[in-house]
Amino acid sequence: MAFRLPVLGTAGGGTTEIVVNGTTGLLHPIGKEGITPLAKNIVKLATHVERRLTMGKRGHERVKEMFLEHHMAHRIAAVLKEVLHKSKSSSQS
Ligand SMILES: *[C@@H]1O[C@H](CO)[C@@H](O)[C@H](O)[C@H]1NC(C)=O
Repeated sequence: MAFRLPVLGTAGGGTTEIVVNGTTGLLHPIGKEGITPLAKNIVKLATHVERRLTMGKRGHERVKEMFLEHHMAHRIAAVLKEVLHKSKSSSQS
């Protein structure tokens, strides 16, 4: 995504959080059943330049919005604050 390329991945784990299927890349079922659709999508993106460029561009926008260092730092700080707040209020009760 950082290199303006679409992502072809499996619909499992953290990948589903990062890749928006159909927008920034394409997700496939985990295991054997994902092989044929993956092969078809490799060919599709190799031959459909416009689609590849659009997906790559959207992926790049998403990576900038959500995963760059300062955004991650903000989000981690927010989680830490929340956790500290919760531990503070639970220790008072
Ligand atoms: C991803 O989106 C495509 C259509 O763009 C769809 O055919 C496919 O089933 C979707 N994959 C998953 C894992 O949802």
